[in-house]
Amino acid sequence: MAETPQELFVHDVQDLYDAEQKLVRALERMAKNASDRQLAKGFAAHAKTTKRQARRLEQVFRTLDRKPKRHTCAGINGLIEEYATFVRDEKPSEEILDVFSVAAALKVEHYEIVAYKDLIKLAQQLGNATAASLLRETLKEEQETASLLEGLSGRLGKAMMAAESSDEDEEA
Ligand SMILES: [Fe+2]
Repeated sequence: MAETPQELFVHDVQDLYDAEQKLVRALERMAKNASDRQLAKGFAAHAKTTKRQARRLEQVFRTLDRKPKRHTCAGINGLIEEYATFVRDEKPSEEILDVFSVAAALKVEHYEIVAYKDLIKLAQQLGNATAASLLRETLKEEQETASLLEGLSGRLGKAMMAAESSDEDEEA
C-alpha cells in the first residue's frame, strides 16, 4: 500500500534495493563480456560499488524501522533485458559490444541518478536527514560512474570506427 508519503518512500527504497542487487549480477556479466580491459575493470569495480549501495539502502531501511525488502524494479528489469537480448540476438563484434555495453550502463546510471534524486527529495520532505545523507552518498557515486562512462564511450567509439575502416581496407 502506498497511501502516505512515507509509504511511497518505503516503496521506492524497496524498488531501488531490488535494482541494485540485480545490477550487481548484471555488471559482473557485463565485465565478463567486455573486451576492452579498462571497460571490464570498470564494470567489475562498479559491481563492487553497487554491492555497497545495496548495503547502504539497508541502512536506510533501518532509519524506517523496516526489514530490507525488495519490490521488483520494472525499469531496471527492462534495461537489463535490453542488454541481454542484444548480446543474445545480434551477435555483435567485440568493438560493437563494448560500445553497446557502455551505452547500456549509462542508461542505467541515468535511471538511478533520477531515482536517487527523487528519493533524496522525499527523504528531506519527510524530515529523514539520515536517509537523505546516505542516499546522497550513493547519488555522488552514480554521478561519478556516469562521467567515467562518458569518457570511455568516446574512446571506445573511436576504436569501433577504426576497426570498421580496417575491415574495409581488408575487403578492398
Ligand atoms: Fe547503483
